[in-house]
Amino acid sequence: MRSSLGRFLFAAVALLLCCATAARAAVLGIDYGSEYVKVSIVAPGRTPISIVINEISKRKSTAAVAFTGGDRWLAEEAMNYNARYPQRVFTRLRDLLGKDASVESFAEYLAKYKLPYKVVRDADRGTARVVSETGDEYAVEELVAMILQYAMKIGEGMGKGQIKDAVVAIPPYFGQTHRYSLYDAADVAGLNILAEVSDLSCAALQWGVDKDFNQKGTWTIIYDLGATSAGAALVRYSTFEGKDAGKKKQHGQFEIKAVKWDESVGGEDMDMLLVDHFLAEFDAKHEPSVSAFDSPKAIAKLRKQVRKTKEILSANKEAPLSVEGMHEDVDFRSTITRKDFEALAKEKGIFTRAAGPLKAIVESLADFDITLKDIEVVEAIGGGTRVPGVKKALSEALDGRALDFHLDADEAVAMGAGLFAANMSTTFRMRKFGAADAAPYALEVDLGKGPEHDRKTLLPLYKRFPVRRIVSVANATEDAKFTVYHADPELLPPGIVDAKVAEFAIAGVQDAMKKHDKVGDIKAHFAVDSSGILYLEKAEYAVEVVDMVEVKPPPPPAPKKVKTDKAEKKEAPKKNRSWFSGGKKKGEPNPKADDAKADDAKADDAKA
Ligand SMILES: Nc1ncnc2c1ncn2[C@@H]1O[C@H](COP(=O)(O)OP(=O)(O)OP(=O)(O)O)[C@@H](O)[C@H]1O
Ligand SMILES: [Mg+2]
Repeated sequence: MRSSLGRFLFAAVALLLCCATAARAAVLGIDYGSEYVKVSIVAPGRTPISIVINEISKRKSTAAVAFTGGDRWLAEEAMNYNARYPQRVFTRLRDLLGKDASVESFAEYLAKYKLPYKVVRDADRGTARVVSETGDEYAVEELVAMILQYAMKIGEGMGKGQIKDAVVAIPPYFGQTHRYSLYDAADVAGLNILAEVSDLSCAALQWGVDKDFNQKGTWTIIYDLGATSAGAALVRYSTFEGKDAGKKKQHGQFEIKAVKWDESVGGEDMDMLLVDHFLAEFDAKHEPSVSAFDSPKAIAKLRKQVRKTKEILSANKEAPLSVEGMHEDVDFRSTITRKDFEALAKEKGIFTRAAGPLKAIVESLADFDITLKDIEVVEAIGGGTRVPGVKKALSEALDGRALDFHLDADEAVAMGAGLFAANMSTTFRMRKFGAADAAPYALEVDLGKGPEHDRKTLLPLYKRFPVRRIVSVANATEDAKFTVYHADPELLPPGIVDAKVAEFAIAGVQDAMKKHDKVGDIKAHFAVDSSGILYLEKAEYAVEVVDMVEVKPPPPPAPKKVKTDKAEKKEAPKKNRSWFSGGKKKGEPNPKADDAKADDAKADDAKA
């Protein structure tokens, strides 16, 4: 039976109870995708959870910021400037977050998606700064903050009063640095992130929250193909026993058992191959003085139209393309068949790569002693799963089995994030449902001991969080340095060059030794919070102290028994005392790991 560690308790949608009094009552679920932002809201007095409609009555908004003529524009208003001033419109910012701007893959990303704006490396932090046409520089976090503020604003348009709290859905491959950067952006935006939860886990909650499960368990696979990434998760739903109004009751829960992804393939790759195809056709047909490939404006106009063409091809065998004044004042008209589009996609291996994460999950089933027959549903979400060629490749990865589309492909993640948020806010009372995200990367800690600096597992792969881990160094006589690393450097998060995650210096050991005239153990209390962020909660130096205490003589014996006048001395039980502690640094995100039970922390104790 699982302990209650790290379990969040959720509401079935129909059972959300709202408290209308709190001023900051409404909470948001924000699906901040690389292309679109979708927002759900849980607010007193509304239907339990609903998708936020933006200022132009759309249920999703392009994640874009533009600066023109001294003004700032967001979302669709920003996109209105894309054809005229493509260098002034910043998109795909989420994908730049937390990455080292000097790595090759960073420049490759900008080139691959033909992003025309300028990016420089922040000298201190290594991350990206985006340069506007006027030469003003913005940290990526600042621009992401503007998108988050936009999400808050449209949320407030539907809620009552100011909204400050949200769960933000993130791609499953986000590592520590990406997660930190998103917190930084939220700080700038004035948004309180309740948790950063993987897209796939949000969708898993949305799928399971209104269903009943048995102890035997139900296995599902959730697959997502968005604009720039593909991901798949193996999810197990079951029950746990809890109490409701003092009575024992079975509640539903899910666990993420495995996660796979490819952060380099998505719907946008299909757009780009159509862009290249039509640019070449334009040049061949109209022979412009400057190649259309060298015109950011032509590319911006074309990419807007090929999106439509691609989406028409999902339901039709042939689709038209029309771009007015595409380049050098020439209108461009063409058509493409689905067959030709699929041939182009196959040439680049796009469908096969998109199916890669699903294939990897299917291959991992044997680790859990199950086969595809044991999987109840394979839910597909994300706009990219509407492409027939993708569906076919996914079905092949499932030995011919068809995908399930019970969830709303566009909105499942935002709705799931809203459910996570409602649970974490104190405003809503709900029926219990256990859910927790899982670590996408295993972490190890080097305790700085021994010639080889042996590393201990700190966070196993797919460990659910929040969680606490205690790491000990026995008989420590010197200060120590604990260094946390990615356990599998070949699986570093995208844009991260260093396998080292963090370094923690533990000081004061000799003072503590002198003070108590004893050698003790260092105990470092690590925690991973509900956003998957690792930090050192506190460090202790623990020495064993034996206190001698006088115990009163036993009570006088009962009459008729032999009398004794001999006093007894008892040794007090041995106890450990701790003297110094580190604690969380100011400004670090608040870990929700307080939910964690001490028992679990002990169980996870990794001793040196
Ligand atoms: N009917 C359709 N046919 C083909 N592609 C579609 C269709 N509808 C949406 N898409 C594509 O889906 C992609 C957007 O999907 P989605 O909204 O899931 O992405 P996102 O969440 O912003 O991105 P990510 O999950 O990668 O961060 C775009 O490339 C879009 O063109
Ligand atoms: Mg998405």
